[in-house]
This record gives sequence, C-alpha cells and structure tokens, in this order.
Amino acid sequence: MQGKHIVLGITGGIAAYKSAELTRLLVKNGVTVQIVMTASAQFFVTPLTFHALSGLPVVTETMTANDAMPHISLGRNTDLMLIAPATADFIARLAQGRADDVLSAACLARDCSLWIAPAMNRQMWQNPATQRNVSLLQQDGIHVIAPASGAQACGEEGAGRLPEPEELLALIKAHFTDTPLSGKPLAGKRVLITAGPTQEAIDPVRVISNLSSGKMGYAMAQAAWEAGAEVTLISGPVCLPAPANVTRIDVICAESMLHAVMSRIPATDIFISVAAVADYRPRHPSSTKIHKSDATQQLELVPTTDILAQVAQAPHAPFCVGFAAETEDFVARGEAKRRRKHLPLLAVNDAKTALGSDDNTLTLLDDDGVHPLPRGHKLVLARQVVTHLASLYFRSPDKRQVP
Ligand SMILES: Cc1cc2nc3c(=O)[nH]c(=O)nc-3n(C[C@H](O)[C@H](O)[C@H](O)COP(=O)(O)O)c2cc1C
Repeated sequence: MQGKHIVLGITGGIAAYKSAELTRLLVKNGVTVQIVMTASAQFFVTPLTFHALSGLPVVTETMTANDAMPHISLGRNTDLMLIAPATADFIARLAQGRADDVLSAACLARDCSLWIAPAMNRQMWQNPATQRNVSLLQQDGIHVIAPASGAQACGEEGAGRLPEPEELLALIKAHFTDTPLSGKPLAGKRVLITAGPTQEAIDPVRVISNLSSGKMGYAMAQAAWEAGAEVTLISGPVCLPAPANVTRIDVICAESMLHAVMSRIPATDIFISVAAVADYRPRHPSSTKIHKSDATQQLELVPTTDILAQVAQAPHAPFCVGFAAETEDFVARGEAKRRRKHLPLLAVNDAKTALGSDDNTLTLLDDDGVHPLPRGHKLVLARQVVTHLASLYFRSPDKRQVP
C-alpha cells in the first residue's frame, strides 16, 4: 500500500466518525489520503479532524483558491476512490449521474476505480429504491462493499452498518496486493470482446436466440478498461448500457458478429469471446411474416461459423480467451473445447445459474490446470479473469497458444 493515493469521500451519515480511524490507518500504511466531504458530512465530523489526520486540506467546495477544478483533478493520478460512508442520498445521486457537489462531480470525472461503502438504517438499505440504485451502480462497474449487520445508531438491528475501519483497511490492502501486476496490467493493449446473444432470423418478426443477458461480457469490458486496455465491445441485442470509455458496436446475428470481429482482428492484441453465438441459423429466412394459417413449417437449420475458432486459427492471431456455458461435466467439456480451439485460457460457467444473473461461478482452465473462482458478482469475477489473462499474456509469447 506504500505510495498509493486514495481519495476518501465522506457523506452525511453517523458512521462518518469511523472514517476518521480509517484515515489514520491508511496514513499509517503509507497511503496518501485526500479527503472530500459533502456539506452534510461536515455536520457529523469537522474537516479539521480529517485535515489533522490526513495531513492534507480537506476538499469541500467545487472551487478553491488553489484549484479551480478539484472535481477533475481529484480522480486523476489516484489509485482508488472510496466513499465511506455512502449515504442513501449520495448513492441515489451517483446512480443518476448527478454532479451537484464536488464529491459526486469528482466521481463522474474520475479515471480510476470507485468503491462505495453504504451505511444507513436497515429499512433505508432494504428499500427497493436504494437496492435499485445500488444495482445500477454495480452495473456501472462501481464496487459496492456490503454493509455489515448488527446494532444500529438508531436503536434498530439489521444490515446497514459501515464495516469496521480495520475491515475496510483489509479490503483495500487485498485490492492492492491481489493484483499481481501493476495497477493497469493491460495498459496500451487493444482488447476486443464479444457479448450477449445473437438473433438468427426465421422471418421479419421471429428469431432463434438464447437467454444470454450480456452481463458477463459487459463486466469483462469494464474490467479490461479498468486494467488500462483500449476496449471494443461487439454486442448482440441486450438491454445494458455500454461501460464508459468502451467503444460499442451493435450487431444482431452470428454472421454480422463474425464480420465485425474479423475486420478488427489485425488491430487486436487480446480477443475475449463471451458472446453466446447461435450455433445454427435458418437456411432460408422468410422475407415475409409466416402466418399461423400457412402450411406446417419445417425449419431447415445450418451451422453458423465458430467465431472464436476462426479467430484463433487466423494468421497472427491475437491472444484468445473463450467462455463456455455448460450444464454438466464442466471441466471435461471446457478443457476439450479449449484444446479443440487452441486457447490459452477458457472460462467455464454453469449455464443453469449464470444466464441472466448478476452473479456467476467460473472455473478457469489453462495449461497449468483448473482454477475455480468462488461465486460472486460478475464484475468481481471479470476483474479476476482479467488479472489471470494478463499474467498468462505477459508470461511468454510462446505460451499464447495451446499447441
Ligand atoms: C443524525 C442523522 C443521521 C443520519 N444518518 C444517516 C445514515 O447513516 N445514512 C444515510 O444514508 N443517511 C443518514 N442521514 C441522512 C443524511 O444526512 C441526508 O440524507 C443528507 O442529505 C445526506 O447528504 P450527503 O449524501 O450529501 O452527505 C442522517 C441524518 C441525520 C440528521
């Protein structure tokens, strides 16, 4: 942690007092801590306390004598922004993309990871509006530290407590030490990712498709961008916003995804195939709607091109990572697929629990063997996959393809 730079945002909740101790612990561990406080937070603990503990003046205004634009400068050259405690109101503002105070504006303008540690009354935490906002933030790639349960300042009992400063410190330490490579392991690398399902036309109003939500692929795009990569996301039809700073190209069918991918392969260092591409498409889609009264229909299907296999076989192929969804024999089926397609890394998930869910369970397969990852939010897993693939990618050029 020595030499790291953290922006610690404090919002107006009772637990603000715990952030004073967190500041002290971080400083003791060699971290530079820049405190930013909302107006409400200053009713709970004074900026003077945080100034004394961090050794730096606290930012409370959108404009100061020394810096006309602290909302921009705060999130630059920073390793992490952490909002602890994060009030229900601040979470709502963040979910809406508001920038009406220096802290929320700095969160919008940041160029680093953002974590929030919500702390509030248990009913406020369970309220569907708060849960909806938290879920939106997770979709945007913001890491949410789950609140602890126990006795609350209001006298009630339940989930909503800010974890103890020592626990927050342990999470931050793990974040920095869990990353075996430097903070931006994919800096300068061009990463191409496919995500979502494809739709294969039967007629103008009907398609063959699958239940992929695109969440895992979008999480991979977010994680690759966080790792410093220049990310292009080729997406089938999904209802997800593209992660910020990622170039998104929308496609519908397997054929259009194939063309979108192949035309970009010469300018790609790493290809990550997460899309659930249809294996088959109707041979002769009807140009007009097929009616119920029409004679019994026979749908003739033909196989689509295996995009990942095509990329892996291409001359000067990029480093290829595959994702596979299976319902049984995960490791055996995944490893067979990895070998067949000559992939250095393949992630297998359980199709029964992964599709559509925010959480996933992944098993990574590579030349070194089987690496199960514990069940967790897709973005958390995506970050682990990116760390793993970066370590393989940089290990040695001749390891980039399975013979
Ligand atoms: C005594 C007191 C304690 C509060 N504690 C919390 C809290 O723990 N969590 C929370 O979300 N809001 C809490 N609030 C409400 C927030 O202070 C209020 O929503 C405020 O507008 C938040 O502003 P901010 O998000 O800009 O800091 C508390 C209010 C008071 C008066």
